Amino acid sequence: MPTATYLDPHASVAARTADLLARMTPEEKVGQMLMLDARGDLHEAITERHAGSILHTSPELMSQAHQLASQTRLHIPLLVADDGIHGHSFWPGATIFGTQLAMACSWNPSLIERAARVTAVEMAATGMHWTFSPVLCITRDLRWGRVNETFGEDPYLIGELGSAMIRGYQGTGLADPDSVLACAKHFAGYSETQGGRDASEADLSQRKLRSWFLPPFERAASEQVGTFMLGYQSMDGVPITANRWLINDVLKGEWGYDGLLVTDWDNVGRMVWEQQVCANITEASTLAVRAGNDVIMTTPTFYEGALAALAEGRITEAEVDAAVSRILRLKFRLGLFEDPRYPDLVRQSRIASPEHRAVNLELARRSLVLLTNDGTLPVAGVLRAEETGRAVCAETRKIAVIGPNADDPQAMLGDWAGDSGQVTWMPGGHPRSSIQTVRDGFIQVAPQNWQVTYAKGAEIGTLAPDPEGTHFPDGQPRPDVFVAAQSDSALLAAATAAAASADLAVVVVGDTVALTGEGRSTATLELQGGQIALLEAIASTGTPMVVVLVQSKPSTLPPAALDAAAIIAAFNPGMRGGQAIAELILGLIEPTGRLPITYARHVGQQPVYYNQIRGQHGDRYADLTQRPLFAFGEGLAYSEVEYGELQIQTSDYAAADRVRASIQLRNLGQRPATETVQAYVSDRVTSAAWADQELKAFTQVRLAPGETVTATIEFDAAACSIVTAAGQRVVEPGKFELRVGPSSDPTRQVRASFRIN
Ligand code: NOJ
Repeated sequence: MPTATYLDPHASVAARTADLLARMTPEEKVGQMLMLDARGDLHEAITERHAGSILHTSPELMSQAHQLASQTRLHIPLLVADDGIHGHSFWPGATIFGTQLAMACSWNPSLIERAARVTAVEMAATGMHWTFSPVLCITRDLRWGRVNETFGEDPYLIGELGSAMIRGYQGTGLADPDSVLACAKHFAGYSETQGGRDASEADLSQRKLRSWFLPPFERAASEQVGTFMLGYQSMDGVPITANRWLINDVLKGEWGYDGLLVTDWDNVGRMVWEQQVCANITEASTLAVRAGNDVIMTTPTFYEGALAALAEGRITEAEVDAAVSRILRLKFRLGLFEDPRYPDLVRQSRIASPEHRAVNLELARRSLVLLTNDGTLPVAGVLRAEETGRAVCAETRKIAVIGPNADDPQAMLGDWAGDSGQVTWMPGGHPRSSIQTVRDGFIQVAPQNWQVTYAKGAEIGTLAPDPEGTHFPDGQPRPDVFVAAQSDSALLAAATAAAASADLAVVVVGDTVALTGEGRSTATLELQGGQIALLEAIASTGTPMVVVLVQSKPSTLPPAALDAAAIIAAFNPGMRGGQAIAELILGLIEPTGRLPITYARHVGQQPVYYNQIRGQHGDRYADLTQRPLFAFGEGLAYSEVEYGELQIQTSDYAAADRVRASIQLRNLGQRPATETVQAYVSDRVTSAAWADQELKAFTQVRLAPGETVTATIEFDAAACSIVTAAGQRVVEPGKFELRVGPSSDPTRQVRASFRIN
């Protein structure tokens, strides 16, 4: 018997795809478009509904799922996907990095690329082909529950870091067995929430989309990201799943993107039961196919809906074929028909290898941002013993490690990992021994002659059933609600006693996964539960207090925290975060992180992102200024770095030129520093109102104590563009200002003018 063309590895992908398509029944084709939840009935999903892909597959079920696909009539291999968004999230003991927000604090694309590579290697070894990462949404409102999943608020920084992540996941290309497909999500505008509420109507003009929301996605498309995922939002009343303009005209048309498009969770069903723009699943399936979606995530009834739409002539088989061809083409290009990439026990030995854990530690160290410091840090008189890596100190001291997040392993990981709520098979989270809390970190690295004590001090709160009922009237489950804890006098007394008898109190406060994630946006940004009372009580002991914010997103801070000796931001910093934090406080490493996001003084300042459009009446409320608590780009070192004069190579450019400038930096302090030099451009007169300044480039420079180094900055003049009122991105000739400095704070920047002609 001659081999079928589609099974012939020497035939072209086009010929194989056409051959296989010709053999498939309408049921098999529609099934191929389905991505189903592997926690349901796998047999039904793969054998009866012919699902072409699955997600949320537990380690136990992985081989069975692949096996079931291999036994189907045409032996079409599965695509197995999951949310490995900061490590192989739900694989017990895998390497879990800090959240994307934590990673972004490093401002270090190459390190983020290495981290993504680690995730790819770990996922690929377990039978997975596809990770739903990176998130390219720009944070606009800190109340949103998914801020932790973003790279922060700036489109350029997001584009740089997102591209690095995509390169890390996809490695040398589709044939690379250590790679996974990346996914640019959530396309596009999802983060323009209303009141920070998740998945609401995104009130966005096309111009605003093109100005700030689309650029990171366009960058990802040009980086050949394998897949795109749509968000949950609607815009102008059109659910994203049905948005033909964005999907066809922009993504596939203007950007020429020919990769795969996956909906978000039950987006097709949601058009019926949530957005209520379709009367039934047949209508919703019709809209989804017509708009150009390929993979339909977790709407099992799309199967019946699309078949009915075909039978009723609402969609044509050619329209279904177009989507199925894209799916099959990808499976052929991945080589899955020859090697379905089953779980591989030998390659799994690389999971959490020392090399992977080392990348994790390095990223954790680079993700910590020192926000304030009265000179208490680094703790005086401590050195690192080269042989052991541990701190040594001539004096005996006592450190009290206090707070609800001081010894909470899940708080180190944050959302989308272990026991964060998305999967059922890890009720205890990742193995405790794989995670270093802040308490563990101090026990591990503090000098052996020091005493490390611990007190929890306060609870944050828990999840409880919604008092309105467990289900909505239409039968959908209602998410649990957060119930803040009361201040606990016994916990408080023990913590106060621990602090009072210590030389230093390290108080680790923040939030929990109960206050984070999809459907868990917050109305307030304040520290919850007994945390403010705890900070006040510790402050009253007079022991120097270092506040460590282990949190999913920027919170506002009470006076007790603001008056502390130092504040460190540690957005869920990952499995090695505890060690990194202890090392930073003890001065074994230098603080190098910079904020990729703005901290607000008050929740009412939303939105508080730095690149706001010019043209308001001043910059304050009657009762508060608009000034942020900590600005985008901000972060201290243990040294002071002085910026010299800004030298711009020439002050006249054509749009095709590269703008080049240099600036002298001098380390005035006694410790080495890694300075993130940031270059912002202000277009002085624009035809349409525009942001006063935008980040265009950054570079990291290491400076030894006393050293002077010249940093160079360059970027394309073409990047100095705006989007006109007509929605066109153009460079408008005229006067620009280059502002270089350690952050977006205009008072800290050195300026030079230039023209683009
Ligand atoms: C819904 C989330 O919005 C998306 O980010 C995620 O990838 C999918 N669920 C799959 O878990």
